[in-house]
Amino acid sequence: MKNLQIKTFAEYKKAYQKSTENPEAFWDEIASTFTWKKKWDKTLEWDFRKPEVKWFQGGKLNITENCLDRHLEEQGNKTAIIWEPNDPDEESRYISYRQLFVKVSRFANVLKNNGIKKGDKVCLYMPMIPELAIAMLACARIGAVHSIVFAGFSSSAIASRINDSGCKLLITANEVYRGSKRVNLKDICDEALENTPSIETVIVYRRTVEPTSMKEGRDKFWFDELQKVDKDCAAEEMDAEDMLFILYTSGSTGKPKGMVHTTGGYMVGTTYTFENVFQLEKNDVYWCTADIGWITGHSYIIYGPLAAGATTVMFEGIPSYPDYGRFWEICDKLNVTHFYTAPTAIRALAKQSLKFVEQHDLSSLKVLGSVGEPINEEAWHWYNDNIGKGNCPVVDTWWQTETGAIMISPVAGITPTRPTFATLPLPGVQPALMDENGKEITNLHEKAEGRLAIKFPWPSIARTIYGNHQRYKEVYFSAYENMYFTGDGSYRDATGNYRITGRVDDVVIVSGHNLGTATIENAIDEHQNVVECAVVGFPHDVKGNALYAYVILYDDVEPTEKLESEIKKLVSDTVGPIAKPDKIQFVSGLPKTRSGKIMRRILRKIASNDTDNLGDTSTLLNPEIIDEIMQEAKR
Ligand code: WTA
Repeated sequence: MKNLQIKTFAEYKKAYQKSTENPEAFWDEIASTFTWKKKWDKTLEWDFRKPEVKWFQGGKLNITENCLDRHLEEQGNKTAIIWEPNDPDEESRYISYRQLFVKVSRFANVLKNNGIKKGDKVCLYMPMIPELAIAMLACARIGAVHSIVFAGFSSSAIASRINDSGCKLLITANEVYRGSKRVNLKDICDEALENTPSIETVIVYRRTVEPTSMKEGRDKFWFDELQKVDKDCAAEEMDAEDMLFILYTSGSTGKPKGMVHTTGGYMVGTTYTFENVFQLEKNDVYWCTADIGWITGHSYIIYGPLAAGATTVMFEGIPSYPDYGRFWEICDKLNVTHFYTAPTAIRALAKQSLKFVEQHDLSSLKVLGSVGEPINEEAWHWYNDNIGKGNCPVVDTWWQTETGAIMISPVAGITPTRPTFATLPLPGVQPALMDENGKEITNLHEKAEGRLAIKFPWPSIARTIYGNHQRYKEVYFSAYENMYFTGDGSYRDATGNYRITGRVDDVVIVSGHNLGTATIENAIDEHQNVVECAVVGFPHDVKGNALYAYVILYDDVEPTEKLESEIKKLVSDTVGPIAKPDKIQFVSGLPKTRSGKIMRRILRKIASNDTDNLGDTSTLLNPEIIDEIMQEAKR
């Protein structure tokens, strides 16, 4: 599908210009390269004030026909997915487009056979195994909406997500391998299922031979269900604006936001950006190390690469098992050409001896990618020098769960790169840098810093927050008139290149995972000895950011280490292990404004050991508390 690819910087500029002058014509042409059951009547209708965005209205399609069926004739035998297991001694699996097509169709019939229809919500809580890809595509095949919950989340996180969207069916695996550990996913699900009245059926894939507890009438094994159905399943006709999936992301307030992505625009956006940013050629092997439980996995392990007919690698394990050379061993073994990972992984690997890299032949690599958080200069150079050997363009791709697809990024080998810069907007993306008065900084030839907004819709923008359109409006469309607000700060240099500086709200990115501090605070507040708490992020050399919790205990409670571990465990159980605070400080009070708001800005500075200038504290009700907190701060 080379016809989607920009090949020179001049072509990039031309495409960009066309996309701003006539966005409808620009996207019309791209959308025409896909398989539609019926062409759309209207390319775009939008109003960020409502907010409402509709792309390719009246168009009918099924995304799996684009990811599978349309490749069968020309490249049915090409490998679609290479699966690399956690244990290097277990065999890799190679699944061709034709095999994947059959597996997806068959499992789609399993879903139907279990009463799932178009529009029903299906929750997936699964390890990184091909069956996760099969299950998500099977949902899309019959028009069911998948809601994937990252398999590191706790039972209460699963339950709240299932209940928020009313999922009817849950698909899971009995166990998951993670490095040297084996985790029982089914037990975690069983706990969640005590509080999820909408779930009627659970389908369990057996990843290990261990015995699995099954509830009569509710729980069924994947393989048993497959025996009951045949292999042909026609693709459901979907409207371009029909829901494809819900994916939860953290917000500034406690409850996670179920971002809704629809079918046509998401497909066009992810595929176009995949083709262009990575510049894949026919026999390339592309590997994105993300988990499919996050948007990066949805868009750039599954939908984008498969719609583009690429070979995509899925890895079950972790970078440190059996040793810190695992990523490079896989690149060597599978001849990976395109490698896409997160800065936190790069930083963790850069801390290890270079021998872990040097033991492996990385000469197949052509392009390196980074995503999920700002990449610091040191990590960028380590990646570029030791992994890319100075020969592979590094694409620092900025985007979000909400944007569905990459927004600001170099086009590999075409856009001049610069460490720590995501560089230029892709065609179709119109960023706006906003100053502190809420005005757009329009001079592109002068360096500036501000908040990042987007002033025109792109096809893969999330259409709403499931069940809460009002919140969608408040979070994304209220900061600036008729613009989408990203929640990120940004710096733009005098040549129009963007560097993303990080979140400007109460979301902290820890090891590439978005965590809302409010959710963690809610969890800590549940502890019977805790009166109140505040959680902030502070810089961490591997994780990017780590969490620091300030906790007020009841007067008669002794602050002990035991209490600290109880609080950590509580967070781990309610949100997930990734949300555990690194540091907990017991305090007698929190700095509050007269209106009762915690002044997190100050707490962030103390946690970051950056206390020379605490800024204006005159609006505080209890300024004396700051000295106490500073004196006892954990360094
Ligand atoms: C951050 C992940 C700097 C940013 C695809 C954004 C980045 C949030 C980059 C979205 C990057 C993502 N440089 N920051 N290249 N990519 N971010 O929803 O703060 O998990 O708002 O989507 O990650 O995280 P999410």
